[in-house]
Amino acid sequence: MSINLQIKSFEEYKEKYAKSVADPEGFWSEIAEDFLWQKKWDSVLEWNFDEPKIEWFKGAKLNITENALDRHLAERGDKLALIWEPNDPKEQFVRYTYRELYERVCQFSNALKTKGIKKGDRVCIYMPMVPELTIAVLACARIGAIHSVIFAGFSATAVSDRVNDAQAKMIITADGLNRGAKQIPLKRVIDEALATCSSIESVIVYDCLGWDISMTENRDYWWHDVVKDEAKICSAEVMDAEDMLFILYTSGSTGKPKGVVHTCGGYMVYTAYTFQNVFQYQESDIYWCTADIGWITGHSYIVYGPLISGATTVMFEGIPTYPDAGRFWQIIDKHGVNQFLTAPTAIRSLMAYGEDHVLSYSLDSLKMLSSVGEPINEEAWKWYYLHVGKERCPVADSWWQTETGGIMISGIGNLSPMKPTFAGYPMPGIQPVLLDQEGNEITAANVEGYLCIKAPWPSIIRTTYGDHERCRINYFSHYKGYYFTGDGAKRDENGMYRIIGRIDDVINVSGHRFGTAEIENAINTNKNVIESAVVGYPHPVKGQSIYAFVVLDKVTEDALMTKGEIVESVVAEIGKIAIPEKIQFVTGLPKTRSGKIMRRILRKVAEGDVSNLGDTSTLLDPAVVEEIVANALI
Ligand code: WTA
Repeated sequence: MSINLQIKSFEEYKEKYAKSVADPEGFWSEIAEDFLWQKKWDSVLEWNFDEPKIEWFKGAKLNITENALDRHLAERGDKLALIWEPNDPKEQFVRYTYRELYERVCQFSNALKTKGIKKGDRVCIYMPMVPELTIAVLACARIGAIHSVIFAGFSATAVSDRVNDAQAKMIITADGLNRGAKQIPLKRVIDEALATCSSIESVIVYDCLGWDISMTENRDYWWHDVVKDEAKICSAEVMDAEDMLFILYTSGSTGKPKGVVHTCGGYMVYTAYTFQNVFQYQESDIYWCTADIGWITGHSYIVYGPLISGATTVMFEGIPTYPDAGRFWQIIDKHGVNQFLTAPTAIRSLMAYGEDHVLSYSLDSLKMLSSVGEPINEEAWKWYYLHVGKERCPVADSWWQTETGGIMISGIGNLSPMKPTFAGYPMPGIQPVLLDQEGNEITAANVEGYLCIKAPWPSIIRTTYGDHERCRINYFSHYKGYYFTGDGAKRDENGMYRIIGRIDDVINVSGHRFGTAEIENAINTNKNVIESAVVGYPHPVKGQSIYAFVVLDKVTEDALMTKGEIVESVVAEIGKIAIPEKIQFVTGLPKTRSGKIMRRILRKVAEGDVSNLGDTSTLLDPAVVEEIVANALI
């Protein structure tokens, strides 16, 4: 296989785009020909958005790991598949060729089978950013087990919720992880989580830190023990194109995170296609995405997209500011990185340390830059373009979601025009529309609307695990016949899209999604709390931050202590990543007569803009607003 799915000019993009809309089946089947199938499809696409039921490449048989590993062995067996850079720059980095990675994946696949894991079983993975995480993901896919990676910053309660929802049989974890100067326990969190999980039969523990940890007999096994007698070949399970590949939990506007389901065939085709096009990867390039594999970006653009394309992908264990704020730039020079993908929040946090760190590295190898996860503000875009890309490298701002599986709207390498703060153009096969409140398509330029998608693409969400109705209600019921993204957007006169941000009750903190209800539920577990309302407000580094308005049962003497307890509840229920930055105690929340919280008002207060709160006369108790404004934490 060569990297031959690439568009080579903006003209060609326009042609391909037109074809993809006029004849989606012809367009995608031609692309799908480039992959390794054990059997080709009977039909390219069958769908309706009412149920929803979406089937791509129905009847086809494949295994995604044969595409990511086996088929590269002949021509790329000695090519680097993975470069792992440790947290501590003084430690040695590790490199795997495609052959080595293939062998390690096969060996671990056999270990999973020996421990009783079969096709269709769910396996949770709660790991540091080490190569074994990638190996575990691919080993699951190889034997047809459904992986559910849980970001290693989530609390025991969040882990057990996910394990129970998926009824997982196994967890793969580590003793702990390195994050900058800190070491964080993982196995201890798993032990706590497993007290409330009955489906788990075994736990595999990777020895990352050499810690002496407690191991439960007949349940917990060391990674190095389970692999040591296993063979380095393992036949790949035959999967239907529409068999589940993985579940990834994400937050929405309801209290409980939902398990987004992706399937084998369409996800494979779309992640590889978008990887090759957005990043314009060339055979000898080194590509690096700084995301964590606990999130969708890591799934699609550290593991699957690059490896299916035969690329060399870099995986970094640490954080951008350790041992200093030049770490990213040092890694780029050290490994000769050509394509670099990071999040706006990382750029903004590094900007705060000044230019010296970035200016002391050459960054000559870079050919293109990309950003993902949240809107990139103009200042951050310019800093990235000027100081990192040295005005030579295009910046592709890519918009997409856990539910979309792959990049939807983005710049395309150096082919497409760039405009700061605009994500760019829809990828071929993607038909975005902007709708007004009534669901009419907006055709005028520079008008804001609800961003929806009109037709399926190969890696669209298929269902929410164990609850298909939830998938329908969340994504397909707002506007009949459209996939609803939850984002607002604008389109300029040239057809470029600018993403404004979420229009539902989702807050995006440093590129991590949280539902307001999810955080409120966590706050409300505190015995002193009667109720709470959480909103997002703009934050200079994190993009958005969390502001909580909390009604207490009785006013406690020590407000600081109570705030501390509220923070503890959030840490226990979700994790440190969801801690509210501001907590304001209020005697009541602004509610309508029907009991609905008027978040619009709270958002304005949190934003520090109380000049025009709109009409408050419909509130049950308008006086509450005055009190909230008077005590606002601005
Ligand atoms: C936001 C991350 C603006 C958006 C891949 C979306 C963005 C949510 C961008 C999905 C971008 C992602 N510009 N906003 N380039 N990329 N978002 O599921 O609100 O973690 O709905 O997927 O992040 O977050 P998720």
